[in-house]
Amino acid sequence: METFRELIDHLDKRRELAFVDRKVNPKHELTAVMRRMQAGANHALMFRDVAGSDIPVVTNVFGFRRTVAAALGLEEKDLLRTLVAKEARGLPVDRVDDAPVQQVVSLAPDIDVARDIPQVVFSEHDAGAYITAGILIAPHPETGAYNASWNRCQLVGKDKLRVRMMPPQHLGRYHAEAEAKAQNLPCAIVIGAPPGLMFSAASKVPYEADELEVAGAWQGKPLRVTRCKTIPVDVPADAEMVIEGEVIADIREDEGPFGEFTDSYVPVMKNHVFRVTGITRRSDALYHTILAGGTEDLNLVGVPIQTEIYKKVSAFVPQIKDIATPGYVFGCVISINKQNEDQARNAVLAALGGYSWTKIVVVVDDDVDPFNAADVLWAIQTRATPDTDVYTIPRVSSYTREDVREVHSGKLGIDATAPLSMKPLFERRRFPGEDAINLEDYIVDRD
Ligand SMILES: Cc1cc2nc3c(=O)[nH]c(=O)nc-3n(C[C@H](O)[C@H](O)[C@H](O)COP(=O)(O)O)c2cc1C
Repeated sequence: METFRELIDHLDKRRELAFVDRKVNPKHELTAVMRRMQAGANHALMFRDVAGSDIPVVTNVFGFRRTVAAALGLEEKDLLRTLVAKEARGLPVDRVDDAPVQQVVSLAPDIDVARDIPQVVFSEHDAGAYITAGILIAPHPETGAYNASWNRCQLVGKDKLRVRMMPPQHLGRYHAEAEAKAQNLPCAIVIGAPPGLMFSAASKVPYEADELEVAGAWQGKPLRVTRCKTIPVDVPADAEMVIEGEVIADIREDEGPFGEFTDSYVPVMKNHVFRVTGITRRSDALYHTILAGGTEDLNLVGVPIQTEIYKKVSAFVPQIKDIATPGYVFGCVISINKQNEDQARNAVLAALGGYSWTKIVVVVDDDVDPFNAADVLWAIQTRATPDTDVYTIPRVSSYTREDVREVHSGKLGIDATAPLSMKPLFERRRFPGEDAINLEDYIVDRD
C-alpha cells in the first residue's frame, strides 16, 4: 500500500472500519468511544462529525498486527522474517511537483492550530489537545539524511506546538546538532503518511540511514515526495496533511502532563518548541489520531521491537515460529521449535540484550501461542522449573525515562519450554473434530 487512504479502504472492504456519524466532542468523548471499541471488536473508527472541525478523524487503524502486515504487503506469519530481510535495501525517493497533500495551503500568519487541527484530548489530566499520530520528518543539518519518528505534540495555539523528543531519539540528536550552531531545525509533521513511512518512523533505523529511502524499501516502491512550501524539507506527496515549521534553538517550555503509553502520566517536563510556518492538506483530508498505549499504538511500537529481537535471536536459534509482545511492549514471548536445550537459553539471553526496553523474556515451545497471554502463563506454570529455568540479570536498565528509571532496573528471563528428554510427557492433548464444530448446529435456540 502506498497511501493511508488505501489502508482505510482495505479495512472498509474487510468490514473492519466503523463509522460514527453523530456529533462527537474531541475532548474525552472521542477517546471514550475508541476505548470501548478497543475493548470489543477492536475495529478502526472514522468519526465524520467532530465538534470544531470539518475534517473526519480516523483512529485505531492498526488494532490488529495482521493489519501492519497487510499495510506492508506481507502475510502475518512471515512478517518478522521478511522485515529483517528487507530493511537493508533503501530505495531513493521519487520527487514530484503535483502533490495531493498540497491541494489546500495555509501560510503564516493565517494559521491557527486550535482552529485548523482537530483538538483531541485523551486522558483526564492531560494538559490539553495533542497530535499523537504525527510523524516528524527532518533532514540532518550536515548530511541531509532524513529522519522520521513519531512524536507527540501539544497544541498550544496559533502557530505553536510543544514536542517531546526523548533522547537518545534521533530527532533530538538532529536538533542538538542544529542548536550547537545556533540554528533552528526545519521539520515537518506528517499526518496520514504512507504505511511504509509509518513503520519506518516507529523503527530503530541506524542514525546514518535515510528513513524516506527505508520507507520506500518497506513499501516496495520509491516514496513519492514533494518540497514543503515554507521550509527546505521533502514530505510524502500522498499524505493527508503536513504541518510545516521549525524546532526552535535554545528554547524549552513546560509540556504535559500527558497520559502516555505506559498507562500513567508523564509529568510536566521542559520540552522543545515547534513554530508552525504552514499547513498543507488534501482537499478531503482525513486526520489520524492514536491513543498512546492503546491497541493501535502497541502494535505500531511492538512490531519493530519484535523484528529487532527476531534479528538478534535468529542468529542463535533458526527455528523461531514467531515473537509476540502480549500485554505490553517491555516484554516478549518467543515461540521456538527447540532442537537442543541450549537454544532456549540462548534465545533468552539474545532477546534480553537485543532490545534495550526488553525487561522480561519468556521462551515457549511452538505448540504454545505466544500472542495468547493465558497460554503463555499455562506454559510457565506447567513447563518451567523455577530452580533452574529463571534467569535474572541485575543492574541492567531497560526503560530509562528519568523519573521511573529505578523501577526498570534488572532483566528477567524464563525458559518455559519442556525438557527435550521428557517430550512425550508434555505432548499437548488434541480433541478430534474440535475445529470443524459449529456450536449453533448443536445448541438449542431458546427463542
Ligand atoms: C504512535 C507513536 C507515538 C510515539 N510518541 C513518541 C514521543 O512522543 N516521544 C518519543 O520520544 N518517542 C515516541 N515514539 C517512539 C518513537 O517514534 C520511536 O522510538 C522511533 O523509533 C524513534 O525514532 P529514531 O529511530 O529516529 O530515534 C512514539 C511511537 C509511536 C508509534
